[in-house]
Amino acid sequence: KSIVILVSGRGSNMEAIVRAAIPGAIISAVISNRPDAKGLEFAASRGIATAVVDHKAFATREGFDMALAEAIDMHRPDLVVLAGFMRVLSDDFVRHYEGRLLNIHPSLLPAFPGLHTHRRALEAGIRIHGATVHFVTAALDCGPVVIQAAVPVSSGDDEESLAARVLAQEHRIYPQAVRWFVEGRLSLSSEGRVSVQGEA
Ligand code: GRF
Repeated sequence: KSIVILVSGRGSNMEAIVRAAIPGAIISAVISNRPDAKGLEFAASRGIATAVVDHKAFATREGFDMALAEAIDMHRPDLVVLAGFMRVLSDDFVRHYEGRLLNIHPSLLPAFPGLHTHRRALEAGIRIHGATVHFVTAALDCGPVVIQAAVPVSSGDDEESLAARVLAQEHRIYPQAVRWFVEGRLSLSSEGRVSVQGEA
């Protein structure tokens, strides 16, 4: 299965997926909207095709999304993986990849959609936090849940320590979700229900 991964920065989730070396998965390209995304270096070092579609070069979101879709579709992806990709995508874009577009979000959705999830979790005083892999639908940071991981919040936590604990789980569940997809076990029904066949 051909997989295209979109990043905007560090790319540690992309790296975890690449390092998982999932049988049957070919990482066809890593594409960034930022030319300086650190993740591009790792991808290139692994011989993966990289591309930049700089959102600053486009006057409209639609223009950017069209150029991005073109850069993605060159690789005929079965799956498109958003891994720390920090642009909101238009409805048309999302519809084009329906059922084959995954995102990871650093909270237990539907709690804490949006930015600064760890800070907000600490402010709210919750005891359990985590991360969610979901299919992308038109609404931001929501959509049918594929897999989640929970972590405890300790009284001594700051944003950084909590983020690190969550990130370690992200690096576990994102490759897992991709593996399910590649094995043909993960799907999204037309009613928007997720099914994972043979889930242990
Ligand atoms: C992760 O915490 C992810 O959940 C969020 O952005 C961060 C990206 O980190 N969407 P990285 O670029 O994968 O290292």
